[in-house]
Amino acid sequence: MLLTSKSAKHDLIGGVALFAGLNQKEVARIAALVEELQVDTGEVLCHEGSPGREFFVIAAGRAEATLRGQHLAYLGPGAFFGEMSLLDRGPRSATVTAVTPLHLLVLDARSFVGLLADHPAVARKVMRGLAERLRESESAPTH
Ligand code: CMP
Repeated sequence: MLLTSKSAKHDLIGGVALFAGLNQKEVARIAALVEELQVDTGEVLCHEGSPGREFFVIAAGRAEATLRGQHLAYLGPGAFFGEMSLLDRGPRSATVTAVTPLHLLVLDARSFVGLLADHPAVARKVMRGLAERLRESESAPTH
């Protein structure tokens, strides 16, 4: 679904932290790979245990990651999710649900791998995000 004009799509991509610092040409290349998606509250974007096929960046709105019904984290504008199962080809590690209407930028698995290969700065940010999640989950209280 085309939600915005080409230039608005470029602005949207250039405005998220993951893609900050990229030049116009790089943003245009990424825009050609990215689909925009708008979903309603309650929509489930990732199902724990299922195969993963897409990577998501939140342009607007808020999602919640849960595992076995337990809250893991809220994800807001600029956050990304769905990277783990594309990286290791394992099942989705969590369920991610829209807790408000979401405006998303979506990349399929092949485009995501290409994005990381072509843009080391983006790859570093994805790795940093993974490291932060690991650190947070290791410091989370165990029950
Ligand atoms: P993936 O495993 O592909 O699908 C579920 C996604 O939820 C996962 O990628 C991460 O992007 C995200 N996710 C998993 N665990 C956490 C967590 N502890 N905090 C925030 N996001 C998470």
